[in-house]
Amino acid sequence: MSEETLKTRIAELEKELKKVKSESSQYLQNVAHQLTAPLNAIKWSIEALKDEDVPIARKHNLLRSVYSQATILVHLIKNFTLMSNLEVDHDLRKFREKPQEVDILRLAINLANDFQPQAFESKKKIIVEDDTFKNAIGRKTVSIEKNLVAQAISNILENAVKYSDVDTSIIIRAEKEKEGICLSITSCGIPINPLEVKSIFERGYRGKQAVDKVPAGTGFGLYLVKRIMELHNGSVSLETKEKISKFKLHFLGNLFK
Ligand SMILES: Nc1ncnc2c1ncn2[C@@H]1O[C@H](COP(=O)(O)OP(=O)(O)O)[C@@H](O)[C@H]1O
Ligand SMILES: [Mg+2]
Repeated sequence: MSEETLKTRIAELEKELKKVKSESSQYLQNVAHQLTAPLNAIKWSIEALKDEDVPIARKHNLLRSVYSQATILVHLIKNFTLMSNLEVDHDLRKFREKPQEVDILRLAINLANDFQPQAFESKKKIIVEDDTFKNAIGRKTVSIEKNLVAQAISNILENAVKYSDVDTSIIIRAEKEKEGICLSITSCGIPINPLEVKSIFERGYRGKQAVDKVPAGTGFGLYLVKRIMELHNGSVSLETKEKISKFKLHFLGNLFK
């Protein structure tokens, strides 16, 4: 390599390094910013709980809010951990557990309960239609990496709560398909433009209307869902019509026993 090419190569590498550094510093700022909001909310709730003049009914609501903010925190931290792992290790290997036999209806109910307080605060309801699970799956369990799939479902549920209209319901169903079974989560609120459908699964992408409604966000949620489903040889898809968005997690039939 001539001295001239070597110099150009070094200059290129320096430029690249600068870009990576700036990106990771932006990422850290984003993480810090996102963690601060729920922590502050918890702090203020605790302040109000200490106040003797606050009526007991209001204190119940405050406790509910503490629980809900803590759920958001745990959820965010799990996403950040998965993201940083993906950056260095391209297939989430570090997080791979042995697949477990999971009762997917039970899992859906537990996750819906986790997000119920957050939904309740904005007059939304999360409904798990358990008869659809009985029809599609019966008593079968599904062999999956439970924590990862739980995080995927949570990411979709979190979006559904965040981006849906006040006084609407979020519906979780199971459906039989040609190749297997899908879990669907339907919400009604911010419309997703059909031209945007591909982009929303990309790392870091956020819809314009979503940003306007909820300024805090990372655009990592659906990207992680996609990666987690690929790890299970499944996929994620979206059907959208005006204000209705239906996200589907597709699992292969041979995982159910
Ligand atoms: N239930 C939903 N209703 C409307 N828009 C949604 C919904 N879920 C996801 N989106 C769109 O997909 C984008 C990407 O979602 P996500 O990856 O979770 O990032 P974030 O929630 O941080 O913006 C959102 O910014 C939003 O535009
Ligand atoms: Mg999200």
